[in-house]
Amino acid sequence: MSEQIIDRLEKTEHIMKLDHVSKSYKSKNRIVKVLSDISVDFHSHKFYAIMGHSGSGKSTLVNILGLIDSFDIGKYELYGTNVSNFKDIELSNLRMKNIGFIFQGFHLNPTLKAYENVIVPMLINKDINPKERKKRAIELLTSVGLKERVDHFPNELSGGEQQRVAIARALANNPKIILADEPTGNLDEKHEQEIFHQLKELSNIGKCVIVVSHSNEVKKYADRVFKIVDGTLVGDDR
Ligand SMILES: Nc1ncnc2c1ncn2[C@@H]1O[C@H](COP(=O)(O)OP(=O)(O)O)[C@@H](O)[C@H]1O
Ligand SMILES: [Mg+2]
Repeated sequence: MSEQIIDRLEKTEHIMKLDHVSKSYKSKNRIVKVLSDISVDFHSHKFYAIMGHSGSGKSTLVNILGLIDSFDIGKYELYGTNVSNFKDIELSNLRMKNIGFIFQGFHLNPTLKAYENVIVPMLINKDINPKERKKRAIELLTSVGLKERVDHFPNELSGGEQQRVAIARALANNPKIILADEPTGNLDEKHEQEIFHQLKELSNIGKCVIVVSHSNEVKKYADRVFKIVDGTLVGDDR
């Protein structure tokens, strides 16, 4: 099933489409409504910003888009195919080949060098020849400006550099979609600009880039800015 979807990749405009999606968390005897009736479309070549107060549901939305989290009602179409009822194994296969994640805390493995961190997602991708892995990792690190740092361990890199390793790692399997959840949350202003710039470059080369951020700086880079207000997604008038 997922192979068919990947084949359809280049032919579809809509990369991701949510149709009347709602999500609540049930804990003990309490129900927390997080997202309510969200309909939205994401395209390639675009940089989207998702803003909103802490606890407004930004991570929940990104995790749904990233096939990490489920939802209660509604429909999710990835490349025009409804994936709402896909099994876990199909979802993880789709995720591996199509989606690169970047997190606030970088999530690098401290025992691995920069290039080894970038290789990790390639280990489960049979489409990438094992002999090519290191070469590809170094190319990706070079593309984010870390050619001279490929042999460094994470604790030998600045926060901004670590996040650039995480960007290179997100690109390991050449996904069409990049999801970044507060990628600059742990960085100072200069490094924040650097990371937004790198993410913008990725949308310029055709990726669909979705960035959750508290920072107003993200608006300078975004083609569209959304805000989550009371569980719904609204366009932010700039
Ligand atoms: N696993 C969970 N169980 C119960 N409530 C959760 C869970 N994950 C998130 N929430 C709640 O859902 C709301 C939205 O969370 P989240 O998507 O993480 O917000 P944001 O990323 O905007 O800060 C919050 O009120 C949070 O407490
Ligand atoms: Mg969050």
